[in-house]
Amino acid sequence: MPRTRPSLVHAPSVAPLVAPLAALLLAFPIFTAPLAAQVADAPALHATIDRRAAELEAKVVAWRRDIHQHPELSFQEVRTAKLVADHLRALGLEVSTGVGGHGVVGLLKGGKPGPVVALRADMDALPVTEVVDLPFKSAVRAVYNGQETGVMHACGHDNHVAILMGTAELLAGMKASLPGTVKFIFQPAEEGPPVGGAGPMIEAGVLENPKVDAIFGLHVGPGPLGTVGWRGGATAAAADQFRIVVRGKQTHGAYPSAGIDPIVIGSQIVLGLQTIISRQSNLITAPAVLTVGAFHAGLRENIIPDSAWMIGTVRTLDAGMRTDILDRLKRTAESIAQSAGASAEVHIERGYPVTMNDAPLALRMMPSLQRVVGAAQLFESQPGTAGEDFSRYAEKVPGFFFGLGVAPKGSDPRTVAPNHSPLFVADEAALPIGVRLMASVAVDYLIGETRVQP
Ligand code: NI
Repeated sequence: MPRTRPSLVHAPSVAPLVAPLAALLLAFPIFTAPLAAQVADAPALHATIDRRAAELEAKVVAWRRDIHQHPELSFQEVRTAKLVADHLRALGLEVSTGVGGHGVVGLLKGGKPGPVVALRADMDALPVTEVVDLPFKSAVRAVYNGQETGVMHACGHDNHVAILMGTAELLAGMKASLPGTVKFIFQPAEEGPPVGGAGPMIEAGVLENPKVDAIFGLHVGPGPLGTVGWRGGATAAAADQFRIVVRGKQTHGAYPSAGIDPIVIGSQIVLGLQTIISRQSNLITAPAVLTVGAFHAGLRENIIPDSAWMIGTVRTLDAGMRTDILDRLKRTAESIAQSAGASAEVHIERGYPVTMNDAPLALRMMPSLQRVVGAAQLFESQPGTAGEDFSRYAEKVPGFFFGLGVAPKGSDPRTVAPNHSPLFVADEAALPIGVRLMASVAVDYLIGETRVQP
């Protein structure tokens, strides 16, 4: 479709076209942005992004190494938050700290009016003992759930923070030419479900004043270096936890009929729960996972214990299936226990919801991703069964969360360590790509640039 000159709609001779054109303008946001900005400014802005990302690379690498060497568990991101806040203040941004915990928000007001776009990075690390032999390997230790453990940026959030710090510096340097506002959200406790860090930041008003029109986030993963995975719709799963206590009746192991055996009943429940996914859920709608991760009962070979308990997780990619599977889980456990004369207490803790990418927004930003990494490096990804509290923002405003491959150059994709592994390692060459991606989606969103570049 040719680009329409705005003056055309005012010409009397084309009056019958006014209504359809107006409808078109509303239907396709691509046409609502200032055309002059699209045509004239985009290549220059993109050139600036690419040049500055290269210039900032050494700084971003240094930040990432520093953060990697000083990881902090969820809800404890004091040092990281200070590093971020000091940097944003030095850039001249309006900075808020202590937002919903250790959250930091930086506001960059462009030189021209326009929409508000938010970029989000999560800051927390995991109770994992790093075994990768890096010069900036983490030696941090902590007590987690009563056990001593190492602390490691095993999910790569160190990369996210460094990339967004670099993006902030890059965009601060382009302030005068930005039509709109960029809100930088540095979020704590992504790895701290069910509360997490996004929920408290939203409650603290992070999506308001000014109101965010769209939000973007990226996550590094073990994909080939420099590749970007994207998809519209469900991209990460709802992650709910359950705990089931089966109450039987304790007796001698030689006389089971004198009691009620919670181990056998609990085992039936484990198997019964698996049939919810395999026999009762329409997996054509969306995949789902139910895992029992722990089962505890008993003390000794000849005593049937009084009770057994199990804990597990349910991962779903569809809100309707989520509710349905959780209902069936409760009913299955209670009914199996009841059939044997026992009882089952089912406690379900709802975690993060499904991360739903806004499909039109994801499609609209595709050209930006493609410009940065090239068509051959951009692929439509499958939804993941990990949870993400980016989902909480995307429930409130149109959101787009995409993946950046950071597998070390030359590594075998079949054996490369995944996120949360003590062997997870991100290639630093991905950092400037991450900066270009985040800066590009922000700038292109603000200027309404959505064309595929040659
Ligand atoms: Ni993560």
